[in-house]
Amino acid sequence: MASVGSAVGLGNIWRFPTVVSGSGGGAFVLVYLGAIGLLGLPLLMAELALGRRGRGSVLTCFRTLAPGTAWWGIGLISVTAVTIILSFYAVIAGWVSIYLGAGLAGRFRGLDVATLQALFFDIAGHPWLPLAAQAAFLALTAGIVALGVRAGIERWSRVLMPGIVVILLVLLGRVVLLPGAPAGLGWFLRPRPELITPAVALRAVGQVFFSFSLGMGAMVTYGSYLDARQPITSSAVYIALADLAVALLGGLVVIPALFAFGIEPTMGPGLIFVALPAVLGAMPLGMLWSALFFLMLYAAALTSSVAMLETIVAHAGRRRRWATGLAASGVFLLGIPSALAAGPLSAFRPLGHDFLGLADFIASNVLLPLGGLGTAVFVGWVWGAERARAELERLSPRSRAGGAWALAMRYLVPALLAYVFVTGLTG
Ligand code: PHE
Repeated sequence: MASVGSAVGLGNIWRFPTVVSGSGGGAFVLVYLGAIGLLGLPLLMAELALGRRGRGSVLTCFRTLAPGTAWWGIGLISVTAVTIILSFYAVIAGWVSIYLGAGLAGRFRGLDVATLQALFFDIAGHPWLPLAAQAAFLALTAGIVALGVRAGIERWSRVLMPGIVVILLVLLGRVVLLPGAPAGLGWFLRPRPELITPAVALRAVGQVFFSFSLGMGAMVTYGSYLDARQPITSSAVYIALADLAVALLGGLVVIPALFAFGIEPTMGPGLIFVALPAVLGAMPLGMLWSALFFLMLYAAALTSSVAMLETIVAHAGRRRRWATGLAASGVFLLGIPSALAAGPLSAFRPLGHDFLGLADFIASNVLLPLGGLGTAVFVGWVWGAERARAELERLSPRSRAGGAWALAMRYLVPALLAYVFVTGLTG
């Protein structure tokens, strides 16, 4: 339940619809599903097993299982990735909190899409408001980590996850009645293999890693909390299905709304902040739903950011509070250009991205797949697929699925990941 809480976050409700929209709809969804089955699920099992066997964080796991080697370098890639991700994650979560306030103030009532778009640029482009909201979110995250009340927060997951699903279902009920919605549903769900390009495939893989919290050590840490009796395979399947279900729900709500209200699908990170208020503004009791929705999204982002900060400070030992404050401050500084990307820094567009998009690209599409590749090679060849399989099937009979997993870990996962990575970056 706790790992579901950490996996479900902005990745499902903000990033998934945004990437789907920017990558041709159904073509992307098809690769996404394939990437979950062939890469995400096997790697999720590998990271959980690695954590349970290595009993520690990403850095120590590699050292315990392959002492005296340079494999812990993979842990370093993971920690770098999670630090960059948290830096812009806090910016998006900050926007969520500003929208929570705006919704409560009744700002979405009766607004057309052009005005909602302008509202987004006012908010995200404001000279200091996004910075303040980003700082507040990080301070809250650091407070939870420093006080060691993470376990308490994770208990929220039990109400939070069903709550989010219920609200998304309510929104879905409104969205499907909008004129234009069926066209959007078709665009989202109709697989169109002819539109799959290497770049789309790499983005799908990056999204699976982001959403499943893979390649950044978070699931290794969660694996280290699993006790020996807990079956890893079924836990992994459960986490994967729950995460996929919330992402699909997010897409089902947001994408038809784009078609119904004529919102540009390639609009980028502000997409859901225009689409969702448009839907909410058209609902009876819209203000109430809007407050509930943004509050829950904020809480879901918090369960994720706490897991990220934990991963970063996992090595701090007894200096934990200091380390937490220091790490959170560093992440804040690193995130400042992302917070200003839609405002004062909007003219700064390295490699065709704004700063937030660039940070996201480097972390999600470069570092996470690299970390995942390293983990797969490590588990398949260094620690050894058979030993890893023994950890997976501890206390349960050897099964065919375990055998298939071991083979996939050695050959399919590394080869496929390397192929998608290289073609996606160069193609
Ligand atoms: N998977 C989370 C999301 O989709 C992000 C996350 C990454 C959470 C790493 C924890 C650790 O929002």
